[in-house]
Amino acid sequence: MKNFDLNNLIRENIRKMKPYSSARDDFQGNASVFLDANENPFPALYNRYPDPHQRKLKEKIAGLKKVSTDQIFLGNGSDEAIDLIIRAFCIPGKDNVVIPQPTYGMYSVSAEINDIEIKSASLTTDFDIDIDSIQKAVDANSKIIFLCSPNNPSGNLLSLDRIRTVLNTFEGLVIVDEAYIDFADQPSLTTWLSEYPHLLILQTLSKAWGLAALRLGMCFASKEIIAVLNKIKPPYNINEATQQLALDHLTHVMQKEIWVTELIKQREQLKEDLKQIKTVRKIFPSDANFLLIRIDHASATYQYLVDKGVIVRDRSKVVHGEDCLRITVGTQKENDFLINALKQL
Ligand SMILES: Cc1ncc(COP(=O)(O)O)c(C=O)c1O
Repeated sequence: MKNFDLNNLIRENIRKMKPYSSARDDFQGNASVFLDANENPFPALYNRYPDPHQRKLKEKIAGLKKVSTDQIFLGNGSDEAIDLIIRAFCIPGKDNVVIPQPTYGMYSVSAEINDIEIKSASLTTDFDIDIDSIQKAVDANSKIIFLCSPNNPSGNLLSLDRIRTVLNTFEGLVIVDEAYIDFADQPSLTTWLSEYPHLLILQTLSKAWGLAALRLGMCFASKEIIAVLNKIKPPYNINEATQQLALDHLTHVMQKEIWVTELIKQREQLKEDLKQIKTVRKIFPSDANFLLIRIDHASATYQYLVDKGVIVRDRSKVVHGEDCLRITVGTQKENDFLINALKQL
């Protein structure tokens, strides 16, 4: 992207503001007596504030993801990153974000909370990027385009050439949410970061890594973009327990790989089993840990499954999602339970 100047995209108040400086910003290093942060000095497990910059954790993530530590922002879930990106770059009541539907709901919710107009575009009926639809939605006040690949709720990867077209033609920020990338047969787009200074990539420990309850989301982008997010984040947004547990968990890459391999195997088996269910009309291709299916009487089936104690997601009201249910791939036992329930319908 020629002549890209991030300063033109940052909200002026954010660009000008002086960030909060915490006690742990003012002094870094070893000391024997810390009387700077009004903490309780007695040795409770979590009496000290955590590292506001999550240095150790970022070093670990940098090694795993092959990016530098200053290209990583860590949030209280990706949801925090989504909210902060909108707040840093979009002027309430003036700017807008472009969201090709159907996709993950929090992009719209965060935009609405921040009084940012949503320009809805539509994905194609097979849930890929529709360049025309995006181009029609974009105007002079469009600051961000949200892309989700693999997409939730459809499960498919967006095609790379269309993501490139969006990156090559849009001068605002392009977010590619890769929450499900570990399940995909394609590497992350982090390797594109050096080429595109307006690209941001979201990932999370909530899916393949099995840490949804810890709340750790990652944003990878240029160090300039990351600096803006760090400037406005709550000082201690990643608590100490999360930092320690995530650091420990990230050393078990093999465990994650084993889970991913098993879930992909289960996904393919579930697909085969669902094909045998007469009311299932379509199973959409998935590169994620869930399947979107089109089924007769989707909402009634959803309710029937609830009564059987099986909760799936009714997506029949979303764009292109008529009669669709989204099913997370579970253990073999859980998937068999679902299939048996559907067979009895
Ligand atoms: C596409 C996508 N992005 C982000 C998230 C949320 O991630 P986190 O748990 O890190 O907030 C989800 C959760 O379902 C998701 O589907």
